[in-house]
Amino acid sequence: MTIEQQILLTEEFVKQNLKGYDSGHDWWHIVRVRKLALFINEMELLADPFTVEITALLHDTADSKFAGRDNEQSYLLIKDFLDSNGMSDIKDQVMNVIKNVSFSSKHKKENPDDPLLWVIQDADRLDAIGAIGIARAFNYGGFRNNPICIPGEESENTGRSTIGHFYDKLLKLKEMMNTTTGHKIAEERHKILEKFLEQFYSEWYFGN
Ligand code: ADP
Ligand code: NI
Repeated sequence: MTIEQQILLTEEFVKQNLKGYDSGHDWWHIVRVRKLALFINEMELLADPFTVEITALLHDTADSKFAGRDNEQSYLLIKDFLDSNGMSDIKDQVMNVIKNVSFSSKHKKENPDDPLLWVIQDADRLDAIGAIGIARAFNYGGFRNNPICIPGEESENTGRSTIGHFYDKLLKLKEMMNTTTGHKIAEERHKILEKFLEQFYSEWYFGN
């Protein structure tokens, strides 16, 4: 099987497995993360580009929030897919990233010092900030029917509203970047979050 065929088959597998996810985790999130990951890797030369591409494609296929099965079942499915399509040689690397990539990962970090993980994690985190990050946060909040903002919550860090989520997670991501390239892009996107919050509060507290 050629590399091109393996990529196509992985795309199809991912599309099948993302059904039922919220639209912030849809195929277009995967497309954006793939581009960011390949770009970061091109700049930093940290991992094999084919492995980066396959891992970026697969990185969200085991999210128990959406997948409708537990993580272990998803891991088996993904391993099976890699074995059946001539990708056994990259299986361990891919699985390590899938298990560790999530911000909210409850799993013990098996191998957090993996350059492939740095690349994919940075790409995934970049898609959670900037204009796209804001769109995804409000989309997720709507999906959960969370309030947009709970006045006073910002300082308490309770994170029940989408604005609260900015303080719980989004504003922290810039300093959590693994790579120099990721950090550079994050700085730009972080500024967008700050600008947005400033304007948001000026409108929320209009007339006060
Ligand atoms: P990860 O993929 O790192 O596990 P999540 O699945 O928690 O991250 O988040 C994916 C997307 O959903 C991100 O854009 C994130 O900001 C958004 N999101 C997650 N939790 C919330 C929340 N409580 N309110 C608003 N957006 C959220
Ligand atoms: Ni993701």
